[in-house]
Amino acid sequence: MLLKEWHSFGSTERAKSDLTGVVISILTEPVTRSLPLAWQGDYSTNRAADWIHERDSEGTTLLAISAETSQPVGLMILYEIEDIETGDEDIRLGYLLAESAWGSGMATEMVSGFLDWCRSQDFHGTITAGVERDNQASRRVLEKNGLNSGPTETSGSTETIYRLRLG
Ligand SMILES: CC(C)(COP(=O)(O)OP(=O)(O)OC[C@H]1O[C@@H](n2cnc3c(N)ncnc32)[C@H](O)[C@@H]1OP(=O)(O)O)[C@@H](O)C(=O)NCCC(=O)NCCS
Repeated sequence: MLLKEWHSFGSTERAKSDLTGVVISILTEPVTRSLPLAWQGDYSTNRAADWIHERDSEGTTLLAISAETSQPVGLMILYEIEDIETGDEDIRLGYLLAESAWGSGMATEMVSGFLDWCRSQDFHGTITAGVERDNQASRRVLEKNGLNSGPTETSGSTETIYRLRLG
């Protein structure tokens, strides 16, 4: 698997050359079902272009492609937040896999690769991910990568917050 910033791929590097096509192929109904309501529903080319624009205005998005087929397999969405008081960096992590790639360990590999990269950059701070409580596959992916849901869970919320401190 190759994981890097989604605009940084050369047109011959991935099987689908346009990013809107990549988004349309990944954001299918089963994938967006556990994601924010505003991301659900069908994607036209225009909607996919708007979605790409929104992600770019909010943070950094990485695209994972299969090393064997060059087909897009998933996206990793990163938002960086700095605690003004402590100066601590927090990277908020989100990810989604094309349905065809589910259950093959790719989400685990994607998160593990990202954490290895953070360590190689001497990143000091926290990695945080919010997961709906009933999203067992995603919770397992985070747990296998050493993220923990601590006592900071907000009662009444359906989301569990997982964290890992690095550095
Ligand atoms: C969540 C998602 C990323 C998981 O992808 P994946 O490729 O299936 O993940 P992996 O194969 O790396 O690992 C999944 C783990 O969860 C386990 N799992 C899957 N479904 C499960 C379930 N219903 N209950 C318990 N464990 C489950 C798998 O057995 C595996 O653990 P194991 O390696 O110990 O056997 C993928 O399903 C997806 O993109 N879903 C839609 C978007 C989404 O939910 N994103 C996350 C938002 S927080």
